[in-house]
Amino acid sequence: MTKKKVFVNSVLVLSSLLLATIVYQCKNPNVASDYSSPDVLATHFNGEEFVGSETCMECHADIYASHIATAHFKTSALADSTNIKGSFEEGSNILDIESTMFTMFEEEGSYYQHAEIKNRTKKTPPEKFDIVIGSGVRGQSFVTWKEDQLFQLQASYYTPSDTWVNSPGYPSYSIDRPIRDACIKCHVTFAKNKDFAGQGNTYDKKQIIYGIDCERCHRPAKKHVVHHRNNPEEVVAKYMMMNDTLSRQQRLDACAQCHSGSRGRILQGNSFTFLAGNNLDEYAQNFYSGSKEKPLDVHGNQYGLLAKSECFKQTATMDCATCHNPHKNQRGDRSFFNQKCMSCHSTAAVECKADASDLSEMANDCIACHMPTTPSQAMTVQLEGDSLETSFNIRTHLIGIYDKDQNTLK
Ligand code: HEC
Ligand code: HEC
Ligand code: HEC
Ligand code: HEC
Ligand code: HEC
Ligand code: HEC
Ligand code: HEC
Repeated sequence: MTKKKVFVNSVLVLSSLLLATIVYQCKNPNVASDYSSPDVLATHFNGEEFVGSETCMECHADIYASHIATAHFKTSALADSTNIKGSFEEGSNILDIESTMFTMFEEEGSYYQHAEIKNRTKKTPPEKFDIVIGSGVRGQSFVTWKEDQLFQLQASYYTPSDTWVNSPGYPSYSIDRPIRDACIKCHVTFAKNKDFAGQGNTYDKKQIIYGIDCERCHRPAKKHVVHHRNNPEEVVAKYMMMNDTLSRQQRLDACAQCHSGSRGRILQGNSFTFLAGNNLDEYAQNFYSGSKEKPLDVHGNQYGLLAKSECFKQTATMDCATCHNPHKNQRGDRSFFNQKCMSCHSTAAVECKADASDLSEMANDCIACHMPTTPSQAMTVQLEGDSLETSFNIRTHLIGIYDKDQNTLK
């Protein structure tokens, strides 16, 4: 080869390399670096990082798509016209409690509650609906920012009556109720209170993850995402808590952190220190001991009630996922739930000794008789014009044989 040929060849090779690089860069602007380092939404106290369900979508598309339709995902969000259920139309935008009248109004795409204390001329400023709490199955409450502090609005929405109501537990005059960890811990994925113990109501606005997202049940997942993005050929999950390596109690605890009563007695860290995979009793307990039946309620104790049922006590593996697919909205899917009962009680007609005509009247709906809806003692609302408070009806998880008319255990 002549020197000239070598020179021409090297120029050709170099220029084609350059061209390839330019083409690659144009097609994938900065993708390589962003892709393997997704935005961190919040950092847990133990250093694990949350990246949000949108990053899961590319590899878990089906789960992502059904998860965003669940009550969990929708249980808190920034308020907007699509998620506030109450009406702002004149005539149905009023909440009138004894001493105060609240008017709900919209202005330039934002929503407000305006309190006017009767017999007083001094006006209070309107308060903005900043955050919605509750998917709206039974109702919603609303939260407002004052600087970096969170307060609950007095007006709540009650789905059965489709009206504004005085928030549960509020008096008949207007008050400012601070929102602390003890309230939002079950309605968001993560929040960072300025006061580590969670007693204050000042929050880092940038580190609140609304809705109950994947990472509340599967732990913060940045490392998992980065690893699998960099190793697309791997089919075994890495840097991810494996659900089937957990004990039954740990699997229950992942749900019980929000479904076993208020657990106000914090033993370690704060309300968000516990992560799925930990042992809940080492982190937070309920104040009551002994009789667990009485305080079990809406804000709820599905776990405590289920644990007292024969179905649970006489099987070694039953947990919440035996009957619930946590990624799907299954409310009202009777045939699905009946099948779950039948998977253990194979021929109900043989085992269930209920009266034949009663059974057909209930269309063999197992839960109508064995898990009846029961009025809550803790969650009540006062409807306008009613002297008595109305209870929220919640389905009991104390599976058993009930008195037909009284919903009491036989
Ligand atoms: C780049 C691809 C990729 C991304 C992004 C990804 N995963 Fe995974 N994930 C996998 C693979 C591969 C597996 C193993 C195969 C399987 O179980 O689907 C897996 C498995 C899992 C498992 C099952 C663990 C078990 O018990 O078997 C969970 C839970 C999980 N991922 C959660 C998440 C969450 C939450 C996110 C988003 C924050 C996420 N993944 C994002 C690739 C990914
Ligand atoms: C971070 C707290 C939290 C965790 C963890 C949690 N839940 Fe929930 N769950 C809630 C809240 C809050 C609601 C009410 C949502 C609403 O309607 O706004 C709810 C609602 C539900 C519902 C009713 C859904 C509907 O359509 O109305 C079911 C069923 C349920 N949870 C089961 C589970 C199971 C099973 C687990 C564990 C795999 C679990 N939850 C984990 C807080 C939690
Ligand atoms: C220990 C967990 C927990 C705490 C703390 C908690 N909630 Fe809930 N909340 C739930 C669960 C679980 C439900 C669903 C009712 C059920 O099925 O038992 C619920 C339901 C609701 C609903 C009705 C949602 C719907 O779609 O029907 C509203 C509104 C609500 N909570 C607001 C609040 C407010 C406001 C606070 C704080 C003052 C609070 N919750 C504290 C767990 C909790
Ligand atoms: C309320 C808690 C909860 C939420 C929220 C949740 N998961 Fe799960 N997930 C579970 C539980 C519990 C299991 C184990 C189910 C079982 O044992 O049948 C599971 C199983 C899985 C699995 C492995 C089994 C399968 O079905 O493929 C993957 C992958 C997964 N989840 C990904 C996700 C992703 C991605 C999201 C968010 C888009 C998410 N999960 C949201 C509780 C949850
Ligand atoms: C994982 C298996 C399993 C599932 C799922 C299950 N059960 Fe059971 N159930 C049992 C066992 C075991 C017993 C105790 C032995 C017996 O009475 O048959 C029991 C007992 C019962 C009893 C008698 C309770 C008592 O106090 O005497 C009723 C009623 C019952 N189950 C109804 C249901 C209904 C309704 C469902 C669905 C919502 C259901 N079971 C789901 C296993 C299960
Ligand atoms: C034996 C089956 C079974 C098991 C196990 C089970 N559930 Fe349920 N759960 C049901 C059925 C059936 C419903 C009613 C669904 C409907 O209304 O369509 C229900 C409803 C719920 C609701 C909504 C209650 C309401 O009235 O709004 C919550 C919350 C819930 N379950 C949480 C849990 C949790 C947490 C666990 C584990 C501690 C659990 N469930 C275990 C069968 C079960
Ligand atoms: C109309 C109400 C009703 C419906 C619907 C119903 N049951 Fe029952 N079930 C009863 C009554 C009442 C008993 C108690 C009968 C007795 O022992 O006198 C009972 C008893 C049982 C028992 C306990 C049997 C024993 O030997 O202790 C089981 C298990 C059971 N039912 C399962 C089911 C399942 C599964 C379904 C749905 C396929 C179902 N039931 C639907 C009312 C009902």
